[in-house]
Amino acid sequence: MDPYVLEWLGLVTRWFHFVMGVAWIGASFYFVWLNNAVRPLAAGDGAPGVAGEVWSVHGGAFYQVQKYAGAPEKLPAVLHWFKWEAYLTWLSGFALLVLIFWSNAKAYMIDPAVRDLLGWQAVAVGAGVVFGGWVVYDGLCRSPLRERPRLLAALLFAFGVGVAFGLSKVLSPRAAYVHVGAMVGTWMAANVFFVIIPGQRAMVDAMIAGQPPPLERGKAGALRSLHNNYLTLPVLFVMISGHFPSTWGHPHAWAILALLGVVGAGYRHWVNLEERGKAAHWILPVVLLLLVGVAVVAKPRGPAPASGGEGGAAPVSITRIQQLVGAHCLQCHATQPLYPAFATPPKGLLLETPDQIRAAAQAIRQQVVILQVMPFGNQNGMTPEERDEFARWCAQELGGG
Ligand code: HEC
Repeated sequence: MDPYVLEWLGLVTRWFHFVMGVAWIGASFYFVWLNNAVRPLAAGDGAPGVAGEVWSVHGGAFYQVQKYAGAPEKLPAVLHWFKWEAYLTWLSGFALLVLIFWSNAKAYMIDPAVRDLLGWQAVAVGAGVVFGGWVVYDGLCRSPLRERPRLLAALLFAFGVGVAFGLSKVLSPRAAYVHVGAMVGTWMAANVFFVIIPGQRAMVDAMIAGQPPPLERGKAGALRSLHNNYLTLPVLFVMISGHFPSTWGHPHAWAILALLGVVGAGYRHWVNLEERGKAAHWILPVVLLLLVGVAVVAKPRGPAPASGGEGGAAPVSITRIQQLVGAHCLQCHATQPLYPAFATPPKGLLLETPDQIRAAAQAIRQQVVILQVMPFGNQNGMTPEERDEFARWCAQELGGG
């Protein structure tokens, strides 16, 4: 596809995905809050069947929401369902995955230094994780483990970490992150589609038929809602992770993902308890400490001590760097990139003249020397010796090692 068309398709799809995600998560956080904030009514207050209520003020109006213990005696004329936010978030997210990653597998999914897959193999791995992951998750949730939610949660966490680890051995680091996020996002949307909404429908149908509500279905839905609640923040991290190469570019990127997943879920746990009025103040500092701990431990160690420009190594000339940039960077970082996936130089970074290269020295040190995420997916096989030349030149330009 024409890269320019691709860019605009990507823009529109991402924008839509983002808006739908905001709507879904906003509604879901609101209902979790509502459920947590409902306070019991005094005996005799409220309509029959009402268990509690909550008052709020927003946008200049007062709202009184009542929660029923079971079903109301009579179904209201209009009953609102919340599902399209979830479905459209998934559909647009899946479209993005196909558009950016699967249809550009060579650029976005394959890193020959990790594994020299063929395009279709990388896509098969990606699809296997997104769809196969749901089969495993759903199977575990339907198994007798559903009666032991903590053990189930621990197993699911181990499974997610296992997938992240496995993907880190086959796909490019960024694709590995994105596919873990896509897998978990699929669990969440499929929970709504296959379990939560059908359960609610069964409840309404039972009411209309004058039968008791199907409690088993309600319980299954509650378990899936609980999972969605805790999975939201980890998935949101994956969605923004592309901007942070020090996470997915790390040699143990899967472990960083696992720990940040714990940070996200832990923070959510604190919010849940706060909303229920249970003071669990210890959680927040622990979560923050873990976050800082991850940041400290993940700090890139930088180039090997031999590089960095001290000692006897000969200085690296700008002419030599121009040669290296010509061989390893200009396919993409040029006014008219030759690399098929890009219509414009990524991030607007041009490296065509010595001045442009010098001006980017700081960023080059970050991306090429410290994080080693450029050349993108090391598509053109830059050698460690060449990287070392970049390291020495950066040290000359910027000082320090
Ligand atoms: C195959 C294409 C490709 C090649 C080759 C390539 N890059 Fe990049 N580069 C990218 C992409 C894509 C991004 C944006 C990544 C992102 O979205 O974070 C990028 C981002 C960067 C950035 C970060 C810019 C910013 O503002 O965040 C720097 C610096 C960089 N590249 C330097 C280099 C250098 C130096 C080389 C050669 C050694 C190189 N790149 C080779 C595709 C490439």
